[in-house]
Amino acid sequence: MVAAPQDGWWREAVCYQIYPRSFQDSNGDGIGDLEGIIRRLDYLNDGTHRSLGIDAVWLSPTFPSPMADFGYDVSDYCDVHPDFGSLETMDRLIAECHRRGIRLLLDWVPNHTSDRHPWFLESRSSRNNPRRDWYIWRDPKPDGSPPNNWRSVFGGPAWTFDEATGQYYLHSFLKEQPDLNWRNPDVEAAMLQTLRFWFERGVDGFRIDVIGRILKHPDLPDNPPNPAWRPGDRERFSQLWIHNHNYPDVFDAVKRIRRVFDEYPGRVAVGEVFGSPAEIARFYGTAEAPGLHLAFNFHFIHEEGHVVTPWEAPVLRRIIANAEATVPPFSQPCFALNNHDRSRFVTRHNYDGRGYERARAAALLLLGLRNTPFIYYGEEIGMADVDIPPERQQDPARFRSIGRDPERTPMQWDSTPGRGFTTGEPWLPFGPLSPNVAEQDGDPDSLLSLYRRAIWLRKELPSLSRGALFALGGDDRTVTWARSAANAPAVAVAVNTSAEPASAALPFDAGRVAISTDRSHDDARVRGGRLELPPLGAAWVVASL
Ligand code: NOJ
Repeated sequence: MVAAPQDGWWREAVCYQIYPRSFQDSNGDGIGDLEGIIRRLDYLNDGTHRSLGIDAVWLSPTFPSPMADFGYDVSDYCDVHPDFGSLETMDRLIAECHRRGIRLLLDWVPNHTSDRHPWFLESRSSRNNPRRDWYIWRDPKPDGSPPNNWRSVFGGPAWTFDEATGQYYLHSFLKEQPDLNWRNPDVEAAMLQTLRFWFERGVDGFRIDVIGRILKHPDLPDNPPNPAWRPGDRERFSQLWIHNHNYPDVFDAVKRIRRVFDEYPGRVAVGEVFGSPAEIARFYGTAEAPGLHLAFNFHFIHEEGHVVTPWEAPVLRRIIANAEATVPPFSQPCFALNNHDRSRFVTRHNYDGRGYERARAAALLLLGLRNTPFIYYGEEIGMADVDIPPERQQDPARFRSIGRDPERTPMQWDSTPGRGFTTGEPWLPFGPLSPNVAEQDGDPDSLLSLYRRAIWLRKELPSLSRGALFALGGDDRTVTWARSAANAPAVAVAVNTSAEPASAALPFDAGRVAISTDRSHDDARVRGGRLELPPLGAAWVVASL
């Protein structure tokens, strides 16, 4: 059934990120593709509790690209990379998603193009090419060095010298990803047209790549050194990103971008943003001049000061409190536990071999919060990082020494040699046979079953799908909160991050456990306002009326 465009659908949606190279290969070339995704849509949502119950899918970039950064170097914003299919396959994917009530979000990369994009080829062809100013070109300093001290996020200087025209161009990421000059109105207009192209084809929205970088200080001054940086720390943190990250002009551009989304009912903009809770909140704009519908909060993955956010109740509580306190009242937070840039949750929290248990509790945390949650493919079966032998490493970005291949390995559908992913040689090696979907499918105790039950329950309990969050509390071991919508019983969420049993205080006296990380606990009742939680456990409790 094709759902009519409806504003605000994203408020109650559970979203799923697909890394297209790694989800499902349909032609045996070892690379996932759109046809493969179509074949797996029923796994995401077939309208029954046997499926995950996903409401929206975000595809990492699917556009033509030389793949220097696996699609985040776009050479044509209005087509499909042949590895993934064609415009015809994309049209079918859109239709097949909509038939199941699934919304489809693509990945818009506005900060930079590929160095093979025709715009950049023209721009670099001569100093007086009409497109010269579409990118950021500057003369060398008198000593020949780059125009300023900015570092690329992936390491090394953010400038590359072009011998032919004698100037440097700016690239916040790889040298194959030159930054567009958003101060040129023609650039902005051309990029906004690419959004309309996809909206016209029925795409429901975009995840927007590094939106906080599209406008820099117009004079490109040096960034100051970071006083907290020590030799041996990651190079990109050696300076404070003052002039090229979340620069004030970005927030005005975001509002202009939003107006294009508003030309098409029901379309949603989800920004990849970084910064403090207050900086994240700024991307939402104001009620009068809205910005993004949603801006990612990655603080459960990493926070300033923590490369890996610890799984500790006080830390989780602070992250939730800060998001609740800053995101404007007309919207809501947007959390993720995983994505294609970071070590997977199970691996991050496996220092004592109990990462998988923590992943169960994390599922109930993520889906129990007031937010639009994003699940990264494989998270629902507890996929971990895969060791990649040096000769198989693909990712050129070395901001983690091994790059980001370990968290991008193919989806493990079953335990056959091709894991149900491919009949050929996979582009990245598989992990161990387990976990996989087939082994978890019929097992009521599996993580997959927990995700399915929690997602469907969330839809059935209005307090969870759209209720306010209140009574955030707990102690050193537990974090608790409650959700409440009009005319529906309140639901409490309790998470025990300690490896000991813990007793959590809930904001109501009596209720029943609706779901818990440990099914033997599912019939537990709350009396006297307390819930006993197993080690590393979590539960949702529906208040007795
Ligand atoms: C953020 C994306 O998530 C990452 O994968 C990419 O390498 C950079 N932006 C550059 O586009």
